[in-house]
Amino acid sequence: MVVNGKNISYSYDCNDTSYALRNVDLSIEQGEFVCILGCNGSGKSTLVRHLNALLQLQHGELTIAGIDVSNENDIWRLRRICGMVFQNPDNQFVSSVVEEDIAFGLENYEVPREEIPEKVNSALLLVDMEGYDKRAPNSLSGGQKQRIALAGVLALEPDIIIFDEVTAMLDPDGKQEVLEMMRKLHKAGKTIIAITHYVEEAVHADSVILMHEGKMIASGKTRDILTDVQLLKIAEIMPPMAVRVYYDLLDAGVKLKECPITNEELAEKICKLP
Ligand SMILES: Nc1ncnc2c1ncn2[C@@H]1O[C@H](COP(=O)(O)OP(=O)(O)O)[C@@H](O)[C@H]1O
Ligand SMILES: [Mg+2]
Repeated sequence: MVVNGKNISYSYDCNDTSYALRNVDLSIEQGEFVCILGCNGSGKSTLVRHLNALLQLQHGELTIAGIDVSNENDIWRLRRICGMVFQNPDNQFVSSVVEEDIAFGLENYEVPREEIPEKVNSALLLVDMEGYDKRAPNSLSGGQKQRIALAGVLALEPDIIIFDEVTAMLDPDGKQEVLEMMRKLHKAGKTIIAITHYVEEAVHADSVILMHEGKMIASGKTRDILTDVQLLKIAEIMPPMAVRVYYDLLDAGVKLKECPITNEELAEKICKLP
């Protein structure tokens, strides 16, 4: 397991008994595409901020690629292995020129100067943004900004990439661009941890971790979790549209062979009805 967590609990106010996370066990395999799904305030960000030591572990155990997150000497090594992209693209830039912004992380890690331009270019290529090196981040669309933020992370060649609600502020095209990037990086062998409260964004993941009130209430194969309407109800998450239509049809006396999770699957199964 590349991520191995046991009994993680966290409270923002140490004097308080209210926990943002309660007894969470977390195990993620190398190369897996995991979606952490839960409504606002369910503890998703608190959980993933432990993975690259943005939050200090208070209770429990957690290792990333064998590194204990509570070992302070390993924080920078950990952050290089486990990159993170955040919700607001505008808060992630440190320079007004794209190439300088991507170079910033490399400089921090004391990558030799002469190697930096090539690494910046490779990162831009990975996010389909070659030729944008001299542009100002704030002249780009939301989806492009997120891809530049992602390039800054990719330049450091992390094994694990965490996307914390990165589509929340994007228009539909921008969302598609960024979701496409996640799938591409997954295919290239990266471990992807995507956080969202939009159920439709979870359908492409291998597995889903369902959070509610600081607890992990379920984890399993995407199809099993997203078709379990009772479970989703507890998590205050509306099932995917295809699942809702499946049950509406069932109520009307029409039974599809299996419960679909995407609209494409739904259309296919409807076409196959006798
Ligand atoms: N910096 C903070 N200080 C105090 N409480 C916080 C802070 N960040 C989050 N919380 C609380 O912790 C709980 C979990 O929040 P969070 O992990 O941000 O949830 P999510 O990412 O699922 O929306 C919520 O009750 C939230 O109000
Ligand atoms: Mg959050």
